[in-house]
Amino acid sequence: MRFYSLDKLINLHDSYRKVFKIDQYNLILLQVDGERYLLESTCPHRGHPISESDIVGSSLRCSLHGYQFDIASGDLIAATEEPCRGLKTYELIYQGTEVGVVL
Ligand code: FES
Repeated sequence: MRFYSLDKLINLHDSYRKVFKIDQYNLILLQVDGERYLLESTCPHRGHPISESDIVGSSLRCSLHGYQFDIASGDLIAATEEPCRGLKTYELIYQGTEVGVVL
């Protein structure tokens, strides 16, 4: 396990979205209403990019079939077809002026 820096804190702002590929991990870092979230970057339903999702209240709505996931927990909260698992979430780690993840 080691720390991977994702970005400098000064670069983060509301509506920030950036995807990262680190080894086998595909991640998306988002900031919404001052809160930061790190989740897997592909929809667990059929693999659509989460970066294209809409923010609906406190959820992400995948733009392909409209499944909705709680942005904080990753839990599936609405599905239009067969259910799928939730989005994986990752803890953000702050080190000095940077934010990152331990993988
Ligand atoms: S691929 Fe995301 S809802 Fe189907």
